[in-house]
Amino acid sequence: MSALSSEMRTHLHDHGYLAIQSLISPEAVIQLQAIYDRLFTEQAGRGEGNQYDLAGNDSETGAARLPQIMHPAKYAPELLDTALYRVVSDLVVDLLGAGAETRFEHAICKPPNSGAPTPWHQDAAYWDPSNRYRDISVWVPLQEATLENGCMHFVPDSHRLDVLPHQSIGGDPTVHGLELAPGQEQHTLNALACPLPPGGATIHGGYTLHYAPENRSTVPRRALILCGRPADGPTPRKRAMKFPWLEERKTARMQRTQAAESEAD
Ligand code: NI
Repeated sequence: MSALSSEMRTHLHDHGYLAIQSLISPEAVIQLQAIYDRLFTEQAGRGEGNQYDLAGNDSETGAARLPQIMHPAKYAPELLDTALYRVVSDLVVDLLGAGAETRFEHAICKPPNSGAPTPWHQDAAYWDPSNRYRDISVWVPLQEATLENGCMHFVPDSHRLDVLPHQSIGGDPTVHGLELAPGQEQHTLNALACPLPPGGATIHGGYTLHYAPENRSTVPRRALILCGRPADGPTPRKRAMKFPWLEERKTARMQRTQAAESEAD
């Protein structure tokens, strides 16, 4: 049975995002929390560039502003057996057709007491500019997501835009995270917040503008994001785009990835 009603599917198609109040049970959230917290305590994947600071320069000494772990199931394979991973695996087939798969997942743990905002961006600004994508992201908070701790915000209908100009956060190419470039603010005027209970989720497409404010609460804001891709993958663009913000980027994370790869050679 589909987790989504026909109204929900229509909303996602028409507006580029969807909020779901209940995707998994509160008990399933608690199970995920324990695995998630262990991964961040261990800084799983740091040596190979899969754990890094999305919003800072990722130094080995200072506190991370917005720690992220790519491919968490690589470091905690038990995630693959959780209710969330099973439900999302069905959901991506439901939305993207037979053969669609969870292509990758990542975890963003926003520290308490002013963990950095995730600035306005489109996910496709991170991806290969020679392609168009139908990929979707399922964003799942592992506690309540509120205005105070950094719930998701979307611009309805922004999925109809192509990739807008972006830059590294703060214009600093040593920072991994991207933000909408200065002068593009008019695109975010109609934003809507999506607070969620534990076990809820949002879904958005690669072109949908989204943002999450800083965490002003006293506990971490944990989010796990699973990304689905259709079986036929992305489509080459008829006319290639250039994403100079990707070409300019030079981060500590990239250096760790390169060092780990050259060791493996
Ligand atoms: Ni995003």
